[in-house]
Formats: sequence, C-alpha cells, structure tokens
Amino acid sequence: MAMLSGLRRWMPDFAAALKAAADTVDNVIAAAVRFDGTDIPEAMIYATKGGKSLRGFLVLEGARLHGVDPKSVAPIAGAIEAMHAYSLVHDDLPCMDDDDLRRGRPTVHCKWDEATAVLAGDALQALSFELIMLAEIPDRAKVLMAHMLALDAGASGMVGGQAADIAAETADTPLTLSQIEGLQAKKTGRLIEWSTAAGPRIADADETPLRQYGRALGLAFQIADDVLDVEGNAAEVGKAVGKDAGAGKATFVSLLGLQGAKDRAAQLVDEARDRLSCYGDDAETLKEAARFVIARRK
Ligand code: IPE
Ligand code: IPE
Ligand code: MG
Ligand code: MG
Ligand code: MG
Repeated sequence: MAMLSGLRRWMPDFAAALKAAADTVDNVIAAAVRFDGTDIPEAMIYATKGGKSLRGFLVLEGARLHGVDPKSVAPIAGAIEAMHAYSLVHDDLPCMDDDDLRRGRPTVHCKWDEATAVLAGDALQALSFELIMLAEIPDRAKVLMAHMLALDAGASGMVGGQAADIAAETADTPLTLSQIEGLQAKKTGRLIEWSTAAGPRIADADETPLRQYGRALGLAFQIADDVLDVEGNAAEVGKAVGKDAGAGKATFVSLLGLQGAKDRAAQLVDEARDRLSCYGDDAETLKEAARFVIARRK
C-alpha cells in the first residue's frame, strides 16, 4: 500500500486507473466463479487477488482510447488477469520456480497443495476463455481475441517462453541477447501485447500502434522484474528475491549487468511512449504506465 500511496502523489490518474482496473477484475471474476464446496474455486479467487492488475488496466485503457464501452470490456480485463494468475500459480510450483511467497501471501500450492494449484491454474485458464465469451462485444472480436489468446498463452507464446526459461537454467552455454529477448517476449511479452491490442481489436481499428507499445512495454516490464529480483526486498516485492542468479536464469541482468539492463529498459520505455504519439494527450495514462513499469518497486 505504501507504494500505491507514493504512486498517487506521482501520477494520480494512472494510480486511480490501476486501482479501478483491479476492482473491475475482482468483481468480474467473483461473479463468474461458481462455488461448489471444493477448494478449487476458492483457490482461483485467491490466486487472482492482490496483484497490480496491469494487464487488466491495459485492456481497459486501450478500450477507452477507442471509445469502447467500459462495461462491455470488463470481462476481457478479467480474462487476461485470470490467464496471468494461472501462469503465476504454475510458475510458482516446485517443478518450476519453487516459490512459497506470491503477492505477499503463501503461494497456492503452499496454502493448499500441489494438486489444488495445478487444478486451480487449469480452471483459471478455462475461465479466461469463458470470460471472453461472456463479454458483450461483437462476435468477430470475441473469436479473434480467443484465437489470439490461445496462441499467445500457448506453446508458441507464454508456455513456450516458460519452457525456454527452464531449459536455459541448465544450458551448456549462456543465451545470447537476442535469445534472451525472444524468450522474454514469449514468456511475458505476449500476454501484455494481447492486452494492449484488445481495445483496437474490439473497435475494429488499427492495432499497430498499441501492439508496438505493448511489445516494448512487455520487454521493459520483464527487465524490471529481473532487476527487482536483484535489488528488491521480499517484504516490498511480495515474492522471493535474489533467486534468478542462483537458479541460472537467463535474464538481461545476467547478460548486461544491472546498469546495462536498466539502460535497456529505459530505452524501451521511451520507445513505448513514442508509439503512442498518434493518440495525442488522450494516451497520457498509458504513457504514465510505461514510466511506472520500470519505476515500480513491486
Ligand atoms: C509477475 O507479473 C510475473 C511476470 C510476468 C514478470 P506481475 O508483476 O504483473 O505480477 P502481479 O500480477 O502484479 O502480481
Ligand atoms: C514468470 O516469470 C512469467 C510467467 C509467465 C508467469 P518469473 O518467474 O520471473 O516471474 P516471478 O518473478 O516469479 O513473478
Ligand atoms: Mg519463472
Ligand atoms: Mg517465478
Ligand atoms: Mg521474476
């Protein structure tokens, strides 16, 4: 909360929009999950709460820029946050990054057990597609968004990036810069780019500027995550830090060093902001989001 109050002084519109996105996502997901007396729905809700909701915010803000009714797009923000939450629940499993702490609370497999974490993750992935179907937007946009999400979250997207991330831990030779960039673009970048492209897609408008913004933002976002692993403290970040180097993770920090990684992230943020020039002052909140992505402390 300390970070958010600091943020409010620094960029009031962005902080308010991020908070509103988190509330919207929580409401959409709470309304869609059906409680049946088992642990799975409870674990699903638990896993979707307490994050920054950056991806949901990006959906809502991109939609606002294109004049899309915020109510109709709310389930789309919920959909991407459900997909993201599933990726985190599985990322934390003992067979992946083996983490006990997420968003300042025990990870799902620690609070319940591994089977619950695997199944809640699976169900969150299914929920994500259900939410796209529930959105009151043109059918053509729904089909396109579901198709793109399947690609961006699947073996050629986030899952492929996660597999490359794990493989790199035991690779004989360190990855090159372009290999690391490719890995991170899949692992983190694709869900972020999907989020920024959602608004123009629903409005049947040109996705190019927001896609390019999302691509640069996604890369900067993952670099900042890797920097936080070195510089952050667990109490503030809400997850274990200082793990990537020991685990042999291939990151920008491992290749470029801390300052080199920060410089690259700052370049990417400038690039992301430049991509928004066609929207004029209307894109100020998204520009602030780009600054936030590398200035954040959690
Ligand atoms: C963490 O994502 C995992 C990465 C892709 C780096 P976030 O930093 O967006 O996590 P939450 O949703 O705010 O907890
Ligand atoms: C995970 O990246 C990205 C996902 C696809 C979930 P990290 O493993 O670096 O994310 P954190 O640091 O655990 O949040
Ligand atoms: Mg990981
Ligand atoms: Mg991890
Ligand atoms: Mg990380």
